[in-house]
Amino acid sequence: MHRSSPRAMRSRLLAFGMLAALALAGYGGPVRADPGPARYLAPQLPVRDRVDDLLGRMSLDDKLGQMTQPERRYVTPAEVTRYRIGSVLSSGGSAPEPNTPESWADMYDGYQKAALAGPLRIPVMYGVDAVHGDNNMVGATIFPHNIGLGATRDPALVRRIGAATAEEMAGTGVDWNFAPCVCVARDDRWGRTYESFGEVPELPSMMTTIIDGLQGDTLGGPTSVLATAKHFVGDGGTEGGADRGDTRLPEEGLRAVHLPPFRAAVERGVGAVMVSYSSWNGLKMHQNRYLITDVLKGELGFTGFVVSDYNGIDEIDGKPGFTKDEVAAAVNAGIDMVMVPTEWRRFIGYLRDAVKDGDVPMSRVDDANRRILAKKFELGLFERPMADRGYLRTIGSAAHRALARRAVAESQVLLKNDDGVLPLDDGDRVFVAGRSANDIGMQSGGWTITWQGRPGPITPGTTILDGIREAAGPDATVAYAEDGAGVDSSYDVAIAVVGETPYAEYHGDRTDGLGLDGADLKTIDRLRAAGVPVVVLLVSGRPLDIAGNLPKWDALVASWLPGTEGEGVADVLYGDADPKGRLPVTWMRSGDQEPINKGDGKKPLFPFGYGLTYDD
Ligand code: GLC
Repeated sequence: MHRSSPRAMRSRLLAFGMLAALALAGYGGPVRADPGPARYLAPQLPVRDRVDDLLGRMSLDDKLGQMTQPERRYVTPAEVTRYRIGSVLSSGGSAPEPNTPESWADMYDGYQKAALAGPLRIPVMYGVDAVHGDNNMVGATIFPHNIGLGATRDPALVRRIGAATAEEMAGTGVDWNFAPCVCVARDDRWGRTYESFGEVPELPSMMTTIIDGLQGDTLGGPTSVLATAKHFVGDGGTEGGADRGDTRLPEEGLRAVHLPPFRAAVERGVGAVMVSYSSWNGLKMHQNRYLITDVLKGELGFTGFVVSDYNGIDEIDGKPGFTKDEVAAAVNAGIDMVMVPTEWRRFIGYLRDAVKDGDVPMSRVDDANRRILAKKFELGLFERPMADRGYLRTIGSAAHRALARRAVAESQVLLKNDDGVLPLDDGDRVFVAGRSANDIGMQSGGWTITWQGRPGPITPGTTILDGIREAAGPDATVAYAEDGAGVDSSYDVAIAVVGETPYAEYHGDRTDGLGLDGADLKTIDRLRAAGVPVVVLLVSGRPLDIAGNLPKWDALVASWLPGTEGEGVADVLYGDADPKGRLPVTWMRSGDQEPINKGDGKKPLFPFGYGLTYDD
């Protein structure tokens, strides 16, 4: 979406004149007393005036549609027109076929044209989870997951990552990102620990700079996408780290630990906030009017709009599916847009009934619409609704991949380095092993091409092994066997790249311990048996229970989930970049210490903030 050129200004004024004429002729609005020229289409008017004018033209159906967000697989463009749908989403991995940038742009434009065919021409917003790059799209640059970015302690870098992500989205038209997660991960058994920038509120608060990168200095920039602070509030504080569980804290504790990152996000002008599936002291967040309306919108002064999570309203009464009462409870709590992927027609019907029965006041519906429409005006969607395909060339660009590589290097945390085994020498004979050494899918983790992610060459990128081969000198030897077969004492060093297989959300909850997989331990033992120094790289979404194994390892690096640019790991291994990452989470001495966090008096293996350099 470009800035307004003179030609664009002329065409807009012409459009405005035409619409004024149409409005006078009675088109462009519901059958009512002539509302006069469509002022809401005049970009030079203040957003508030445009919202007022448009709202005054909207029927109840128009307003209910704006509050409805189906998933792309369950709504056609024609239904977007007919039901006046305000937004469509791609859930994790829900991509057009073929999964190419052009297909994404075609899909987006298809929905947008349909939305603009509605009587009031209200553009649709399209939402995705671009949580570490535009990660549903093959070819996008995949950045380190948030836990690695937390280790960098570099908010300026994180802002640039937001801007790069927004550029890669803008080319496809997608204008709403369900990111950043500003959760404070307090129990590493939680399957979404890697989506957190860290276990103390200061880290996610610091990294809300990503919002500036995504939204731009003002929302109406050529690559601005709406950011979403999620999940409000306390998603990372549940008992046992159970995803969608219950956060049992006095209000003082909730405010001290989990609220500050949302305050920071609001202060940065975040456009949307997504409600958490979790509960606070037994009450589902999706019906918590005090926290959503009184605290978030009132006390924090949030003027954007609140979106539910995916089928989040289904869980309010603890039974499958949703009822009219749950719809009313969620909307009255302050949820403005409901992510109701499949049963969106039923949602619209229930909300209409709730309004007609007086269970949901029209003032609440109007407030929700004001909030949603204001963001659409601020994003410039009425003026530049279609994908700006000029940005397609930024997708997976060398510049973005170089930025990601730098982020990978800065995220590496050196936890052990006996006898200075690292950095490697260019001429070293190196043996590389492990399931995560040569696998883009393993090093990217969940939310990559598919919701859960998966092993394999899932998208273009550079594996950690590729990076090592590139970094090693011309006369070096780099051998590789996933299981370590073939290693012997002729090598200077052996590197085991091991950790976790990809997962997302509750699929990653670990209640049976946080130890390494048996295959990984076997590989490491095989390398050790060769009698050469062993360097272990942990490719994982969280700290793992490795204290018992550590004495047998010569060096240990937490690589987290680096994404597509594996060279960044090799940059640190060969000293082309100094390790400067510091732990964003406390590293347990034993899995049964969880939850273990800074200042809780427990004795960890490595404390929050720990990280060695090559000078140590
Ligand atoms: C998921 C996640 C949320 C995501 C949404 C849409 O269940 O909880 O983080 O934004 O659904 O994919």
